[in-house]
Amino acid sequence: MSPYHPIPYSRRAALALFGAAVIVPALRPLPALAAADRPALPLPPLDPGEVRDGQRVFRLSLQRGTHRFMPGVEADTIGINAPYLGPVLAMRRGERVRMEVTNGIGEPATLHWHGLELPAAADGGPHQVIAPGATWVAEFEVRQRAGTYWFHAHRLGATARHVWFGMAGVIRIEEEGGDLPAEYGHNDLTLVLQDRWFTSRGGLLYRPNGHDVMMGMSGDVGLANGAVDAAAEVPAGLVRLRLVNGSNASIYRIGFSDRTPFWLVASDGGLLAAPVRLREMPLAPGERIEIVTDLSDGTPRELIGGLAPMGMMGGGMMGGGAIGGFRFATLVPGGAARRPGRMPERLSTLEPAAAPASAAVRRFVLDMAGMGPMAMLRRAAPFTINGQVMDPGRIDHVVPAGAQEVWEFVNRSGMAHPMHIHNTQFRILERDGAPPHPAEAGCKDTVVVPAGGRVRLLARFPEYSDPERPYMYHCHILEHEDAGMMGQFTVV
Ligand code: C2O
Ligand code: CU
Ligand code: CU
Repeated sequence: MSPYHPIPYSRRAALALFGAAVIVPALRPLPALAAADRPALPLPPLDPGEVRDGQRVFRLSLQRGTHRFMPGVEADTIGINAPYLGPVLAMRRGERVRMEVTNGIGEPATLHWHGLELPAAADGGPHQVIAPGATWVAEFEVRQRAGTYWFHAHRLGATARHVWFGMAGVIRIEEEGGDLPAEYGHNDLTLVLQDRWFTSRGGLLYRPNGHDVMMGMSGDVGLANGAVDAAAEVPAGLVRLRLVNGSNASIYRIGFSDRTPFWLVASDGGLLAAPVRLREMPLAPGERIEIVTDLSDGTPRELIGGLAPMGMMGGGMMGGGAIGGFRFATLVPGGAARRPGRMPERLSTLEPAAAPASAAVRRFVLDMAGMGPMAMLRRAAPFTINGQVMDPGRIDHVVPAGAQEVWEFVNRSGMAHPMHIHNTQFRILERDGAPPHPAEAGCKDTVVVPAGGRVRLLARFPEYSDPERPYMYHCHILEHEDAGMMGQFTVV
């Protein structure tokens, strides 16, 4: 069995600490699959919508269903136009988009477009609740650079459960030209990476206890597009992978099991200035990266995600060892081996990230509320931002429309938090006083703030103005978000 296969059993063992109030369903050990038995990697359908009156219209239906994660494991799920997860919505910069979202799951839900700059009414955050049976329409202009974005459930207090059961999909803003592999499903694969645990009866269960709220909910089975240990046939050449960390709480260290280097070509908000050669790269919940690997030598390669240590201290962002991890998928090159692929030297033009002297500075201190085992059992919210937990009736910040601001996150808690800001693509100015690693120097909307760490970033907020409806900033460990590690800002 691969050393990356089912891991941290110890996590479940840790639950024993909290004894009686906790239900610990038996884990179903995974059989090690021979390469030939691996299921084919499912690829979400590419959905270009339908152009109507100058708008690209997408029809999305939130629905309940059942999904077969692996032989013998068929679970009740929630998906978008599908039983589990959703389509890849294809759009272009500058287009007008209209989303028509129908809620068929029998309880209130919301759908948020993660990474996009748009009017607050179209954001799909906790204030745009779609009643059961209702259809919500969101209209906006695509302002973002070409790249990989995503959409997911965002109802206050229910986000983690909804995403756990499958309410998420991908947005692909198409490139105009370019030299990178871009043929969807051929040499350009989109993979939503997640982990889940299944009950002994093969179902999905979401019933977090205090420990799960504190650590975030992770599983012992890795999934790529809802499939376990799948394989994809790809050409024997350059292959691009668009990776979305759609897990509730796991920070993966992405790489290949044989440690072959790859090129990082894009982060959350699109292409980097130039490819960055890496052997591994952290990918936190909410973040996306695009990587290119060269399979011209004809050797199959396993995409793995080691688990980053919870505080991510010591090794910093780019170093430090993983502790166990998942094998997400195996790439199997077909056809004759070819000459090594040629990577472009430059990918895009990025303005230098420098804060204007006049930029307002906002400081966000991430901390842990006083907490003992009893508070944890009562599911008290352990994490705070500037000493407070989320209150949907309180606006924490008012940002002038069109402003450029410095947002500084200081982490005083004992674990890493991937902090996400709605309605902006930002640039990292400093990590603990030092300039960012080239892998983090591009456009971002989610950034890991390690325990004890300090991250300063430069955010530009678009000119949309709405004094009533706020946007969110929050930890993208969904259990932390649901427990109140979230704040609100308006743009006026
Ligand atoms: Cu990915 Cu507020 O969300
Ligand atoms: Cu978002
Ligand atoms: Cu957090």
